[in-house]
This record gives sequence, structure tokens and C-alpha cells, in this order.
Amino acid sequence: MVRPLMMVSMMALTTALGACQTTGPMKTDPGAVAAIAASEAMSSIPQDIHSYAQPNIARVTHVALDLTADFEAKSLSGTATLDIAAQRGATEIVLDARNLDIRSITDSNGQALRFTEGRDDPILGHALTVQIGEARKIVITYATRPDAAALQWLTPAQTAGGRQPYMFSQGQAILTRTWVPTQDSPGIRQTWDATITVPSDLAVVMSAESLTPNGEPGPNDQKRWRFAMTNPVPPYLIAIGVGDIDFQAIDERTGVWTEPSRLHAAHEELIPTAEMVDAAEALYGPYRWGRYDLLVLPPSFPFGGMENPRMTFATPTIIAGDRSLVSLVAHELAHSWSGNLVTNATWADFWLNEGFTVYFENRIMEATEGRDRALMLQSLGWGDLQDTLASLPPADTRLKLDLAGRDPDEGLTDIAYEKGAAFLRTIERIVGREKFDAWLTGYFERNAFRPMTTELFLEDIRTHLVTTPELEAQLMMDAWIYQPGMPSNWQPPVSDAFAPVDAAALAFAQGGSASAIPWANWSTQERQRFLAWRPPVPPASGRWFSDAQLADLETTLNLRQEGNAELIFAWLQIAVQHRYQPAVPTLERFLTTQGRRKFVLPLFTSLWGQGEWGRPIATRLYAEARPGYHPVTTNSVDAVMGRPQ
Ligand code: BES
Ligand code: ZN
Repeated sequence: MVRPLMMVSMMALTTALGACQTTGPMKTDPGAVAAIAASEAMSSIPQDIHSYAQPNIARVTHVALDLTADFEAKSLSGTATLDIAAQRGATEIVLDARNLDIRSITDSNGQALRFTEGRDDPILGHALTVQIGEARKIVITYATRPDAAALQWLTPAQTAGGRQPYMFSQGQAILTRTWVPTQDSPGIRQTWDATITVPSDLAVVMSAESLTPNGEPGPNDQKRWRFAMTNPVPPYLIAIGVGDIDFQAIDERTGVWTEPSRLHAAHEELIPTAEMVDAAEALYGPYRWGRYDLLVLPPSFPFGGMENPRMTFATPTIIAGDRSLVSLVAHELAHSWSGNLVTNATWADFWLNEGFTVYFENRIMEATEGRDRALMLQSLGWGDLQDTLASLPPADTRLKLDLAGRDPDEGLTDIAYEKGAAFLRTIERIVGREKFDAWLTGYFERNAFRPMTTELFLEDIRTHLVTTPELEAQLMMDAWIYQPGMPSNWQPPVSDAFAPVDAAALAFAQGGSASAIPWANWSTQERQRFLAWRPPVPPASGRWFSDAQLADLETTLNLRQEGNAELIFAWLQIAVQHRYQPAVPTLERFLTTQGRRKFVLPLFTSLWGQGEWGRPIATRLYAEARPGYHPVTTNSVDAVMGRPQ
């Protein structure tokens, strides 16, 4: 047991309050101040196997970055100044670092401190242990390397405008340590601020309050941009984007950032964001981060979306022209509660972030687009879950994961997302929506700005909602969390909305003509369902359509001209599984014009699985596409195909 740290919590309180007075409109959330005090008074941050930090001895409470971006050298360099809270008598602090050039570490008076860099692990990086002595503030002078896994440096040719370079970060799960030397564990919340110096024709956005809306003059004709995050956040939520980007407001608290030539389309597409924030607040309480803006990135952004506080990062592949993929915004917005306020303490508890968020996302969609659309989205998720359950080893179908010796990326499956959401829907169905919503609102409130483990979640729900043995037995919570597969009280979403689509798919598979498919009358979700259809008994050949049928589909549905990325992806999955050569040009275009891992990785994996036919195509296309991908995507695809020479 670790003793309470009264002194430390007072220190953290003053830091947080001090920051609050100097950073303008974004007030430090009182809940955040209480959470800092409480977490440090107890001083029991759960052990995270993906971090070297020993936060119960010495922990980082604030990070101040002062970095200059060098696009030639593909490097951020400067200083990270860390505030430290430590046990009385503690003389060292352990940080996480990976692939950083550490130049020096000093105390706040410039006195050099000794430090050691531990053995490097390919996934975790290494421990950076600093002999702090009495110092409770340290200054690390460092530079990132061109292949920092969190960062992608784009040449002008890789942007829409073609004239300016671009750089952005992706921190989740454990990549922040490749650009910020700190304790990179989701249970170790830190406030932070940053001063970022860049060429004067570029703008900087970060996942924090902007203190210099237009930048300010910096050294060497450059511009300086300053930011502050006064609520403590897990380090995976520290994010930066630099490029020729512009802003357009949606309403007074929401807006869109992207390259100028893309701004009009992105803004049009994302207008529903404003009412989504209202809907989310009406469901589960106030939005506690001030503004909610989106940065629509270049097409190499490796995820659909990333819930960086105040500034969701999003793939341009959601700009479909008809607002059909906006549920992604609902998802990232929902993380402002599930994930950013109440945060998985370790990556083994990832379902607490994603399962809650998928549940919440669907409630936002129900509020903004109606019950039918929400049920369709649930059914699509249910289909994905079936595929995932069939393909994963049973041990990985538990909600609480065992990631010992593994990259947290391996937990990024539909188990966390869809089984997690199915669990919460089961609770909702059994206790009733009203009681469930009241509990969930309270859960966010009680645990705001705190790390959450699966066990603490169980404690919370057993204290506040599941208070009778009958209910406990009905809910089967332990089975949901600790057992593989789906418990017996699970029910798939009840909706007949897709029945006509399934009937049309069956008719086509049995030899019908593609012209009989009412494609033009269908929503994107119905079209997704159609393309996700598979025969109930998979044919041994792996082919359920003939080449003639595929050609009929491709022509009649105009799939070569399709612009919706989800539909292109679904079609290409069918095409690759059938070794359908005429789709290869579409495949080539798709794989070389966007780098979203959810699309790219399955396509390369299925190509690779198609042996003699697929491997040469995969090799050729990867050689062409790889230079444009973010390290998150290349690392995953390299693992399937081997790293090209
Ligand atoms: N936080 C995740 C993305 C993530 C998870 C990045 C784990 C790195 C490690 C984000 O909220 C997310 O789930 N994005 C999805 C979209 C969503 C609509 C399901 C994606 O990127 O596809
Ligand atoms: Zn998510």
C-alpha cells in the first residue's frame, strides 16, 4: 500500500488553478481539480503493462512543450518541461520514450540531471529514468526522429493543395512517447500546454484551447502558436496538426478545420455536428471541453476518427457528399464523455472506452436521425460482430483483455466496440432505458477526469444500479466481461429494416439480374448491408458469385465510379475474394488515394490470402501505396506482407 500524499495533492491543485487564471475562456473544470486531488490523495494508479512509469512513486502532472517543426528534417525539436508530483524522498522518475533523441535533461535552474535510457522494446520503447533528486520540475531538450511512429510528415504533393507540407500526430494507443517524453499511460492524467513554431504560411491546431487564434510572430520569420489544456488528460490525447488549413464555423461552439480547397465540402457534410453536441448533452450531461471542432485530415489519416479533446481528427473518407457517414462524428463526440472524461485505466480495459462510445454514438444517431436509422446502424455492427466472433481465438472475445506481451493494437477489434455496446444494450433492455440513462449520467459525473478499470466499473454499477440478487443474476455481467463469446441473455437488434435488402441479395445470388436490385432507392446503410451479404453456407471454393454476376453488379451499380469509401471497400472485399481481375484498377486507385487502416489492412490481407493471384498484385500495389501511408498503417501492413525492400 502506498501512503496518502497530502502535499502532492495540494501542489497539483495550485498548478491547475494557477493555469486557469492565465488561459482565458477555458476554465479548468472543477471536477477536474477534484479528480486530481482525489487521485493523488489515494495515489493508487493501476499498473499498466504498456508503460514503464511508476506513477505511485513519481508522476508527471503537467507537460509544457516548446517545439519547432522542421519540415526538411522531419523533426520536432525543443523542450518538454515536466511538473512532477513525487513521494517524499523519491529521487527518480521513470518516463516512457521511444525513438527520441534526448539532448539534455536539467532542473528548472538549468542544472544537468543524470538520466539513463533502458533497453529498447519494439512495442514499448524504453524507460527514460531521470535522477531528479529534489527537483520537481525538469526540462528535457530533445528532437523527434523522421520515423517517429506517431507522426506523419507529408510533402506538398501529398496534400490537396499541393503547395505546403503537412504534419499530424496520432497518439493512441502508445505512440505519444514517440514525440513527447512523458509517462505515456492512460491512467496518468496530465494537464499540458504548448508553444509550436512553424513556417509562417502554415497553421497549427492542437487538442487544446488555442491561445493565439492567428498565430503570433516567432523567430526567423516563423509563426508561433500557443495552446493550453487545463483539464488533465491521458497523454494519448495530446495531438497536433500543422498545414495549410482553414476554419469555418458550424455554430458558436462547433466548426471545421481542413485544407482550403476542401473546406466547403467538409463544412457542408459536417453541419449535423452542432445538433449532435446538443443531443449528446441532452442524453448524458454537459459537454465539458468548451469548443468541439473537427480537423479533416489528408487521406493518409490512419483512422476513421480520433477523439482528440476539442479537436476530433477525421479521415476525409467520411466526406461522402450526402452526410451518410456522419455517425463517425457521433462516435468521436461521444468519446468526450466515454474515453476523455472517464478513461480506460489500461488498454486491457479498452472496451470501457469503445463499447460505451458505440452505445452512446447510437443514442445520438437515434436522437438526430430516428430509431429506424439507429437500428440499421446497430444491425450493421451486429454483422461485423458475428464476423469478428468467428475469426478470433475465444480468449480474445472477452471484454477484459489479456494483452501481456502484446501491442495494445491487438485489442482493437469489434469485441471492444460491438460486444461492449451489446453488453450495455442488454443492461438497458433489462433495467429499462430510464434507469439505465440515469445510471450512465451518474457514472460520467462520478468518474469524470478519472481512470476507470473494468473492476471499478463493476463496483460503480453494483452500487448504483444493480442492487438486487435477481437483477445481478439476470444481467450476467461477469460472463459478459470475463467469458469468451456471447452470454445467453444476449439478443440481436430487432429490426426488419434490412429484410428487403437481404431478400434482394439472396435473389441476386440465386441468379437474378443486378437490374432487379433497387440500388437507387437505398440509403448508404442499405447498400452496405447488401455488399456485406454472404451466403449462409460459405461455398468451399470461396466464390459465391460468378465472374458474369460480378460484372453485372459492377456495371449495373456503377461501382467503378462509386465515391462512398465504405461502399468501395465493401465491393473490393467481394472482388478480391473472387479474384475478380476487372476490379484491380479500382483497387489500385482506392489503395493509393487513402490510407485508412480499416480499409487498407483487410484488403492487403485478403489479397495476400489469394496466393498466386493476389500476392503479386499486393506487392505491386503496396510498393506504390506505402510511401503515402502513416506509420500506423504501414506497421500493420508490413506485419502481413513483410517489409518491402
Ligand atoms: N479511438 C478510436 C481510434 C483508435 C483506437 C485509435 C485505438 C488507436 C487505437 C476512435 O474513436 C475510433 O474508434 N475510430 C473508428 C471510427 C468509429 C466510428 C468506430 C475508426 O477509426 O474506424
Ligand atoms: Zn472510438
